[in-house]
Amino acid sequence: MPSDNPLAGHVALVTGAGRGIGRATALRLASLGASVLCVARSRDELESCVAEAGPKAAALPLDITAPDAAQTLIETALTRFGKLDILVLSSGAFHSGTLENLTDTDFGKLFDVNVRAPLSIIRAALPALRDSKGQIAVVNSTIIRAASTAGRGLYAATQAALRSLTDTLRSEINQDGIRVLSVMPGTTATPRQEAIHAAAGKPWHPERLLQPEDVAIALCGALLLPETAEATDIFVRPMMKS
Ligand SMILES: NC(=O)c1ccc[n+]([C@@H]2O[C@H](COP(=O)([O-])OP(=O)(O)OC[C@H]3O[C@@H](n4cnc5c(N)ncnc54)[C@H](OP(=O)(O)O)[C@@H]3O)[C@@H](O)[C@H]2O)c1
Repeated sequence: MPSDNPLAGHVALVTGAGRGIGRATALRLASLGASVLCVARSRDELESCVAEAGPKAAALPLDITAPDAAQTLIETALTRFGKLDILVLSSGAFHSGTLENLTDTDFGKLFDVNVRAPLSIIRAALPALRDSKGQIAVVNSTIIRAASTAGRGLYAATQAALRSLTDTLRSEINQDGIRVLSVMPGTTATPRQEAIHAAAGKPWHPERLLQPEDVAIALCGALLLPETAEATDIFVRPMMKS
Protein backbone atom coordinates (compact mmCIF):
# COMPACT_ATOMS: atom_id res chain seq x y z
CA MET A 1 0.00 0.00 0.00
CA PRO A 2 1.37 3.50 -0.83
CA SER A 3 2.22 5.51 2.29
CA ASP A 4 0.68 8.91 3.05
CA ASN A 5 4.15 10.18 3.98
CA PRO A 6 6.47 8.45 1.51
CA LEU A 7 9.24 10.98 2.18
CA ALA A 8 9.10 10.76 5.99
CA GLY A 9 12.68 10.73 7.28
CA HIS A 10 13.99 12.30 4.07
CA VAL A 11 15.71 15.69 3.99
CA ALA A 12 15.35 18.06 1.03
CA LEU A 13 17.00 21.35 0.16
CA VAL A 14 15.09 23.57 -2.29
CA THR A 15 16.55 26.71 -3.85
CA GLY A 16 14.10 29.30 -5.17
CA ALA A 17 11.65 28.23 -2.45
CA GLY A 18 10.40 31.78 -1.83
CA ARG A 19 7.93 31.78 -4.71
CA GLY A 20 6.83 30.13 -7.93
CA ILE A 21 7.85 26.56 -8.79
CA GLY A 22 10.40 26.29 -5.97
CA ARG A 23 7.85 27.28 -3.34
CA ALA A 24 5.26 24.83 -4.67
CA THR A 25 7.90 22.08 -4.69
CA ALA A 26 9.02 22.82 -1.13
CA LEU A 27 5.38 22.65 0.02
CA ARG A 28 4.77 19.42 -1.88
CA LEU A 29 7.89 17.79 -0.43
CA ALA A 30 6.80 18.82 3.08
CA SER A 31 3.30 17.42 2.48
CA LEU A 32 4.92 14.11 1.50
CA GLY A 33 6.70 14.03 4.86
CA ALA A 34 10.16 15.45 4.07
CA SER A 35 12.06 17.94 6.18
CA VAL A 36 12.81 20.87 3.87
CA LEU A 37 15.47 23.59 3.96
CA CYS A 38 14.05 26.48 1.92
CA VAL A 39 16.51 28.86 0.25
CA ALA A 40 16.09 32.24 -1.50
CA ARG A 41 17.09 35.84 -0.79
CA SER A 42 13.72 37.30 0.28
CA ARG A 43 13.30 36.54 3.97
CA ASP A 44 9.56 37.38 4.04
CA GLU A 45 8.75 35.00 1.20
CA LEU A 46 10.77 32.21 2.78
CA GLU A 47 9.11 32.70 6.14
CA SER A 48 5.69 32.50 4.51
CA CYS A 49 6.69 29.27 2.75
CA VAL A 50 8.03 27.72 5.93
CA ALA A 51 4.94 28.75 7.91
CA GLU A 52 2.77 26.94 5.36
CA ALA A 53 5.09 23.92 5.10
CA GLY A 54 4.99 23.22 8.84
CA PRO A 55 7.39 22.51 11.67
CA LYS A 56 9.78 20.28 9.69
CA ALA A 57 10.69 23.15 7.32
CA ALA A 58 13.38 25.78 7.87
CA ALA A 59 14.35 28.96 6.04
CA LEU A 60 17.82 29.97 4.93
CA PRO A 61 17.87 33.44 3.37
CA LEU A 62 20.93 33.46 1.11
CA ASP A 63 22.12 34.68 -2.28
CA ILE A 64 23.25 31.52 -4.07
CA THR A 65 25.79 33.52 -6.08
CA ALA A 66 27.61 34.80 -2.96
CA PRO A 67 31.11 33.46 -2.23
CA ASP A 68 30.91 30.22 -0.21
CA ALA A 69 27.10 30.08 -0.61
CA ALA A 70 27.18 26.46 -1.80
CA GLN A 71 29.19 25.30 1.21
CA THR A 72 26.96 27.28 3.58
CA LEU A 73 23.79 25.71 2.14
CA ILE A 74 24.99 22.15 2.51
CA GLU A 75 26.56 22.69 5.93
CA THR A 76 23.30 24.26 7.15
CA ALA A 77 21.25 21.30 5.89
CA LEU A 78 23.60 18.80 7.54
CA THR A 79 23.81 20.70 10.83
CA ARG A 80 20.07 21.21 11.03
CA PHE A 81 18.82 17.85 9.72
CA GLY A 82 21.83 15.51 9.81
CA LYS A 83 21.75 14.43 6.16
CA LEU A 84 20.59 15.35 2.67
CA ASP A 85 18.48 13.10 0.41
CA ILE A 86 17.00 15.48 -2.17
CA LEU A 87 18.44 18.60 -3.80
CA VAL A 88 16.01 20.69 -5.87
CA LEU A 89 17.36 23.66 -7.84
CA SER A 90 14.57 26.03 -8.83
CA SER A 91 16.26 29.40 -8.35
CA GLY A 92 17.31 31.59 -11.22
CA ALA A 93 16.62 34.62 -13.33
CA PHE A 94 15.32 35.56 -16.78
CA HIS A 95 16.68 38.02 -19.33
CA SER A 96 15.01 39.41 -22.40
CA GLY A 97 16.65 41.34 -25.22
CA THR A 98 18.50 40.73 -28.45
CA LEU A 99 22.03 39.39 -28.49
CA GLU A 100 23.17 42.59 -30.20
CA ASN A 101 22.08 44.64 -27.21
CA LEU A 102 23.50 42.26 -24.62
CA THR A 103 26.18 43.56 -22.25
CA ASP A 104 29.01 41.52 -20.77
CA THR A 105 27.54 42.29 -17.35
CA ASP A 106 24.15 40.81 -18.35
CA PHE A 107 25.96 37.76 -19.67
CA GLY A 108 28.06 37.23 -16.54
CA LYS A 109 25.17 37.77 -14.13
CA LEU A 110 22.77 35.37 -15.83
CA PHE A 111 25.33 32.61 -16.25
CA ASP A 112 26.37 33.10 -12.63
CA VAL A 113 22.89 32.62 -11.15
CA ASN A 114 21.50 30.10 -13.66
CA VAL A 115 24.56 27.93 -14.33
CA ARG A 116 27.64 28.48 -12.15
CA ALA A 117 25.86 28.70 -8.79
CA PRO A 118 23.59 25.63 -9.31
CA LEU A 119 26.58 23.55 -10.39
CA SER A 120 28.56 24.76 -7.42
CA ILE A 121 25.71 23.74 -5.06
CA ILE A 122 25.46 20.32 -6.69
CA ARG A 123 29.20 19.78 -6.31
CA ALA A 124 29.08 20.75 -2.64
CA ALA A 125 26.13 18.39 -2.09
CA LEU A 126 27.66 15.31 -3.70
CA PRO A 127 29.39 13.81 -0.61
CA ALA A 128 26.12 13.97 1.36
CA LEU A 129 24.09 12.66 -1.59
CA ARG A 130 26.53 9.76 -1.99
CA ASP A 131 25.95 8.84 1.65
CA SER A 132 22.16 8.89 1.22
CA LYS A 133 22.04 7.58 -2.39
CA GLY A 134 20.07 10.74 -2.93
CA GLN A 135 18.47 12.59 -5.82
CA ILE A 136 19.01 15.87 -7.68
CA ALA A 137 16.19 17.65 -9.52
CA VAL A 138 17.10 20.63 -11.70
CA VAL A 139 14.26 22.84 -12.92
CA ASN A 140 15.14 23.74 -16.51
CA SER A 141 12.77 24.97 -19.25
CA THR A 142 11.04 23.86 -22.45
CA ILE A 143 12.96 26.73 -24.08
CA ILE A 144 15.71 24.15 -24.71
CA ARG A 145 13.61 22.83 -27.58
CA ALA A 146 11.83 26.05 -28.64
CA ALA A 147 11.67 26.69 -32.40
CA SER A 148 12.69 30.34 -31.91
CA THR A 149 14.53 31.95 -29.02
CA ALA A 150 14.69 35.44 -30.55
CA GLY A 151 14.77 38.04 -27.78
CA ARG A 152 15.44 35.28 -25.18
CA GLY A 153 18.82 34.07 -26.41
CA LEU A 154 20.83 34.61 -23.27
CA TYR A 155 18.26 32.84 -21.07
CA ALA A 156 18.02 30.00 -23.61
CA ALA A 157 21.82 29.64 -23.59
CA THR A 158 21.91 29.32 -19.79
CA GLN A 159 19.21 26.65 -19.85
CA ALA A 160 21.00 24.71 -22.61
CA ALA A 161 24.24 24.87 -20.61
CA LEU A 162 22.44 23.71 -17.47
CA ARG A 163 20.86 20.79 -19.35
CA SER A 164 24.21 19.76 -20.78
CA LEU A 165 25.90 19.87 -17.37
CA THR A 166 23.00 17.95 -15.81
CA ASP A 167 23.30 15.22 -18.45
CA THR A 168 27.05 14.93 -17.92
CA LEU A 169 26.59 14.81 -14.18
CA ARG A 170 24.08 11.97 -14.49
CA SER A 171 26.52 9.86 -16.44
CA GLU A 172 29.28 10.63 -13.92
CA ILE A 173 27.39 9.98 -10.67
CA ASN A 174 24.70 7.39 -11.41
CA GLN A 175 27.33 4.80 -10.48
CA ASP A 176 27.23 6.18 -6.92
CA GLY A 177 23.49 5.55 -6.70
CA ILE A 178 22.58 9.24 -7.17
CA ARG A 179 19.72 9.92 -9.59
CA VAL A 180 19.55 13.15 -11.62
CA LEU A 181 16.37 14.64 -13.07
CA SER A 182 15.82 17.61 -15.39
CA VAL A 183 12.31 19.08 -15.33
CA MET A 184 11.32 21.24 -18.29
CA PRO A 185 8.16 23.24 -17.59
CA GLY A 186 6.39 25.31 -20.20
CA THR A 187 4.92 28.70 -19.33
CA THR A 188 3.99 28.56 -15.64
CA ALA A 189 1.89 31.03 -13.68
CA THR A 190 4.58 32.38 -11.35
CA PRO A 191 5.54 35.93 -10.33
CA ARG A 192 8.37 35.77 -12.88
CA GLN A 193 5.97 34.97 -15.71
CA GLU A 194 3.58 37.70 -14.58
CA ALA A 195 6.45 40.20 -14.81
CA ILE A 196 7.43 38.89 -18.28
CA HIS A 197 3.83 39.31 -19.46
CA ALA A 198 3.65 42.84 -18.01
CA ALA A 199 6.93 43.87 -19.65
CA ALA A 200 5.72 42.59 -23.02
CA GLY A 201 2.28 44.25 -22.61
CA LYS A 202 0.60 40.82 -22.88
CA PRO A 203 -2.68 40.13 -21.05
CA TRP A 204 -2.17 38.02 -17.91
CA HIS A 205 -4.42 34.93 -17.72
CA PRO A 206 -2.70 32.69 -15.17
CA GLU A 207 -5.56 30.18 -15.25
CA ARG A 208 -4.57 29.28 -18.83
CA LEU A 209 -0.98 28.46 -17.86
CA LEU A 210 0.67 25.62 -16.02
CA GLN A 211 0.34 26.06 -12.27
CA PRO A 212 3.47 25.88 -10.08
CA GLU A 213 1.76 23.03 -8.21
CA ASP A 214 1.44 21.06 -11.49
CA VAL A 215 5.20 21.21 -11.96
CA ALA A 216 5.78 20.30 -8.30
CA ILE A 217 3.52 17.25 -8.62
CA ALA A 218 5.38 16.04 -11.73
CA LEU A 219 8.79 16.64 -10.12
CA CYS A 220 7.91 14.96 -6.82
CA GLY A 221 6.26 12.05 -8.64
CA ALA A 222 9.58 11.35 -10.32
CA LEU A 223 11.40 11.54 -6.98
CA LEU A 224 9.06 8.85 -5.64
CA LEU A 225 10.09 6.26 -8.21
CA PRO A 226 11.65 3.10 -6.77
CA GLU A 227 15.45 3.12 -6.50
CA THR A 228 15.62 0.80 -9.51
CA ALA A 229 14.20 3.57 -11.76
CA GLU A 230 15.40 7.03 -12.78
CA ALA A 231 13.33 9.67 -14.60
CA THR A 232 15.88 11.71 -16.54
CA ASP A 233 13.80 14.38 -18.33
CA ILE A 234 10.24 15.48 -17.77
CA PHE A 235 8.61 17.98 -20.12
CA VAL A 236 5.43 19.50 -18.71
CA ARG A 237 3.34 21.91 -20.74
CA PRO A 238 0.05 23.73 -20.29
CA MET A 239 -2.99 21.82 -21.55
CA MET A 240 -4.64 25.02 -22.76
CA LYS A 241 -3.09 26.39 -25.93
CA SER A 242 -2.85 30.19 -26.20
N1 LIG B 1 7.69 30.47 -14.80
C1 LIG B 1 7.87 29.88 -15.97
O1 LIG B 1 7.09 30.09 -16.91
C2 LIG B 1 9.02 28.92 -16.16
C3 LIG B 1 9.02 28.14 -17.31
C4 LIG B 1 10.06 27.27 -17.52
C5 LIG B 1 11.08 27.16 -16.60
N2 LIG B 1 11.09 27.93 -15.48
C6 LIG B 1 12.21 27.76 -14.56
O2 LIG B 1 11.74 27.41 -13.28
C7 LIG B 1 12.58 27.96 -12.26
C8 LIG B 1 11.73 28.77 -11.31
O3 LIG B 1 11.00 29.73 -12.06
P1 LIG B 1 9.86 30.60 -11.39
O4 LIG B 1 9.03 31.14 -12.49
O5 LIG B 1 9.27 29.85 -10.26
O6 LIG B 1 10.78 31.81 -10.86
P2 LIG B 1 10.46 33.05 -9.89
O7 LIG B 1 9.01 33.20 -9.67
O8 LIG B 1 11.24 34.17 -10.47
O9 LIG B 1 11.18 32.58 -8.55
C9 LIG B 1 12.56 32.40 -8.55
C10 LIG B 1 13.03 32.00 -7.15
O10 LIG B 1 14.47 31.96 -7.19
C11 LIG B 1 14.99 32.78 -6.15
N3 LIG B 1 16.27 33.37 -6.54
C12 LIG B 1 16.54 34.12 -7.64
N4 LIG B 1 17.81 34.54 -7.63
C13 LIG B 1 18.37 34.01 -6.49
C14 LIG B 1 19.66 34.10 -5.89
N5 LIG B 1 20.65 34.81 -6.47
N6 LIG B 1 19.86 33.46 -4.72
C15 LIG B 1 18.89 32.76 -4.13
N7 LIG B 1 17.65 32.63 -4.64
C16 LIG B 1 17.40 33.27 -5.80
C17 LIG B 1 13.92 33.85 -5.98
O11 LIG B 1 13.96 34.46 -4.70
P3 LIG B 1 14.73 35.83 -4.37
O12 LIG B 1 14.56 36.74 -5.55
O13 LIG B 1 14.09 36.28 -3.12
O14 LIG B 1 16.15 35.41 -4.15
C18 LIG B 1 12.64 33.01 -6.11
O15 LIG B 1 12.35 32.37 -4.87
C19 LIG B 1 13.63 28.80 -12.99
O16 LIG B 1 14.80 28.04 -13.10
C20 LIG B 1 13.01 29.03 -14.37
O17 LIG B 1 13.99 29.18 -15.35
C21 LIG B 1 10.07 28.80 -15.23
